[in-house]
Amino acid sequence: MKKFLIIANWKLNGNFYFINKNINLIKKKIDNLLSFCDLSIAPPYLYISYINNFLKNTSISLTAQNVDIHTEGSFTGEISINMLKDVGVKYVIIGHSERRLYHNEDNNLISKKFILIKNNGLIPIICLGETEKQKEQNQTEKVCIQQINNILENSNINILNKTIIAYEPIWAIGSGKSANINEIEKIILYIKKYIASLDAKIAENIYFLYGGSVNYSNLDIFLKKKIINGLLVGKASLTTENFISLVKKAEKIINSLNRS
Ligand code: 13P
Repeated sequence: MKKFLIIANWKLNGNFYFINKNINLIKKKIDNLLSFCDLSIAPPYLYISYINNFLKNTSISLTAQNVDIHTEGSFTGEISINMLKDVGVKYVIIGHSERRLYHNEDNNLISKKFILIKNNGLIPIICLGETEKQKEQNQTEKVCIQQINNILENSNINILNKTIIAYEPIWAIGSGKSANINEIEKIILYIKKYIASLDAKIAENIYFLYGGSVNYSNLDIFLKKKIINGLLVGKASLTTENFISLVKKAEKIINSLNRS
């Protein structure tokens, strides 16, 4: 992976009109900048294959917003890891708070997904984060470590090698108000140190992302922290002109900071 990773999580947004209007623009305006970062788009499943046709011969990759734990069979409405590989996906987001909340996904199911994705050669992006109430009760670290431990109970430390952990405080998502940068740094450092206490090399090989109301105006504060290796961008990725400006701004800042 490159110095930095930006994922555009479209969630349940987009259609052929939106894609046809915007994807070539993204390709034209951003692809040539991507020596400084990996850019990946996470559209709804239905459009992955279609978008992939536009992205051939570019360095822009595709991310899936979810995967099922079953690889085939009678599981109506689900998508398997093999299907994601078939259509050219690189990363898979799991454990997003919207799936935990609206689809009752728990730590155990998410751990199974994590292991499946990793063992199939794709890169899991696991989202961790606390609710507002858990934050008030100082539970943030506990909530995040519980999920890591759950993965480790079902596998071993090597499963975390070269994967991605996204800290997404639930209360910050879609709120227009990102988390405090010192708190973000503190929790990511805590998770990283915890993993380092088990295996220092693997902790260094993990990318840590932040997500939750990232936009053009607040971008700088995240980029200046070396512990943050990338960003998950929701709403601000849905207006293409603004998203292009955001990536261009990130490029300028990262190059000026000489991040390694
Ligand atoms: P917003 O950027 O809209 O807050 O969404 C963040 C997110 O959920 C990314 O996965």
